[in-house]
Amino acid sequence: MNRAFFHRSSTVALLAAALASAWLLAACRPAETLNLNQPDVWPHGAMVSAANPLAVAAGIEMLEQGGNAIDAAIATHLVLGLVEPQSSGLGGGGFLLHYDRSTQATLFLDGRETAPAGATVDMFMTDKGAMGYIEAWVSGKAVGTPGMVALYHQAHQQAGRLPWSTLFEPALALARDGFVVSPRLAGYLPMMAQRSRLAKNEGSQDYFYPDGKPLVSGELLKNPEYAETLNAIATLGPSAFYTGEIAEAIVQAAARPPHPGTLTLSDLADYQVKSRPVICGPFRTYRICTTSPPSSGAAQIMIPNLYDQLAPNSVQPFDHIIRFVDAQRLAYADRDHFFGDPDEISIPLDILLSPEYLQVRAKDRFAPDEPVSHGDVWQFKGASAETPRWAPDTTDEMAGTTHLSIIDFDGNAVALTATVEGPFGSQRWAKGFVLNNEMTDFAKTVPEDGSAVANAVAPNRRPRSSMSPTLVFDETDALVLVTGSPGGNSIPAYVAKNIIAVLDWGLTPQMAVDHPNIIARGDTIRVEIGRGEGQAIAEALEAYGYSVRRREGENSGLHSIQVTPTGLQGAADPRREGVVQHLTNPSH
Ligand code: DON
Repeated sequence: MNRAFFHRSSTVALLAAALASAWLLAACRPAETLNLNQPDVWPHGAMVSAANPLAVAAGIEMLEQGGNAIDAAIATHLVLGLVEPQSSGLGGGGFLLHYDRSTQATLFLDGRETAPAGATVDMFMTDKGAMGYIEAWVSGKAVGTPGMVALYHQAHQQAGRLPWSTLFEPALALARDGFVVSPRLAGYLPMMAQRSRLAKNEGSQDYFYPDGKPLVSGELLKNPEYAETLNAIATLGPSAFYTGEIAEAIVQAAARPPHPGTLTLSDLADYQVKSRPVICGPFRTYRICTTSPPSSGAAQIMIPNLYDQLAPNSVQPFDHIIRFVDAQRLAYADRDHFFGDPDEISIPLDILLSPEYLQVRAKDRFAPDEPVSHGDVWQFKGASAETPRWAPDTTDEMAGTTHLSIIDFDGNAVALTATVEGPFGSQRWAKGFVLNNEMTDFAKTVPEDGSAVANAVAPNRRPRSSMSPTLVFDETDALVLVTGSPGGNSIPAYVAKNIIAVLDWGLTPQMAVDHPNIIARGDTIRVEIGRGEGQAIAEALEAYGYSVRRREGENSGLHSIQVTPTGLQGAADPRREGVVQHLTNPSH
């Protein structure tokens, strides 16, 4: 018997009907009529929440100089690339979601790394099947064309306010004069020397292991190569990165063994940021807006809506957790099956986000310990012969990403999630930064029967991403929440927890971030027992028949800002090293 679904009552139908009409109403309102109640003056000041205090300080410095959320996001991220190189940087990519309060416009810029033109569907296959994660992670084939510098530039051109070179000043000063190595950065290094090539590769060896010893927490570290790189980009623009000496160093690093990659100077010169649709869906009286594929942002709309469709049962202990778990299981199965590069494959996004589909999907029955399969999208209006049928997903992922949330003095916002994929990316070093291993975000295994996987490797294709920066608006279209997280495959679960905990469980953003993470992908539920009610939640889920894997801690890095009637409330994830800083008055 499926106990998780057993008690659900016929109120499902009523809720579904209410949801459907709310959805239609929200979907039908033209955006330009929505802004009638917005006061002209933003009363709440500005805020930066990110994974390192030095990076937050850089964002704050830009805001103090009269910069906006885009300026602050770029300066913050340039410092993260220096002080948190295990997570993201110039050698990687990211997704930036921007909200301009004066026009109510939202913008999604996709700076995802892209497969080299020489990439092939079977590039991670060996005689013995697909490479294991570590073999692929440290390989040259894992390196995709980095998107971050082009992303900064496009964002700045579209909406930045300060001069381009100003954004580089805080990171440049820290790289030149030195910064204090954080416990988290130092903590990775002994393990990385054992498991990866970080202590062996040219450049990374000397930088992270001077005299053969890993850097220690508290020591002052300078990165003159990063300073030079920043100086070149600040002075000459992104062409200094995508052509010339820096591009050559990137190509050389990707071409080294083991498993040399095919990245070329043309791949770098051809790189383009894509401006993609922001997808929005209603959740009760709110509107959740997030990034479209290749991001998995759609999960941030699906999970809260499926959560509501699964009717509450007040008798069931931890009912809200069980609904959250079941909603995740359904959404993850769909994400895993259908998502990939939207320029290359057809993704039935309209169907997956429609109230009709979500209503039917919520009734799909799977026993708590049974794997969940994707929904039957083909029975819905809008499906066509082009709606593909894929082989089961074979993608696997690991940890190395960061998220920052910013609101500026005009109430504009940026949610930026950026990555090098695994810790320190591919550990290949070029001019002061590590290169990504984002190509391992593709499905590495090619099915033996010749069928295709949605997220298969192909030349110039972008791998599917779990990164899902998200903005939530209320019924007056005022901004309510800015959020996102690293965490690989667990990102949809971490971010959805943050959204549901704030909007439904009534928690402050910090309490929501602190709440134990619960990840329900596949047939095992991971529960973070080292926090709050984690142990009791694990026991309750087991009592309902779920197969539970207890984890002492999880690797989320949620950085969120909530706009409340009384002001901004920020949250930084205690699982990482982040902080929140609030500026009440512009000093410029
Ligand atoms: O784009 C993605 O989904 C992954 N490369 C993200 C990896 C990640 O979040 C690792 N986090 N700690």
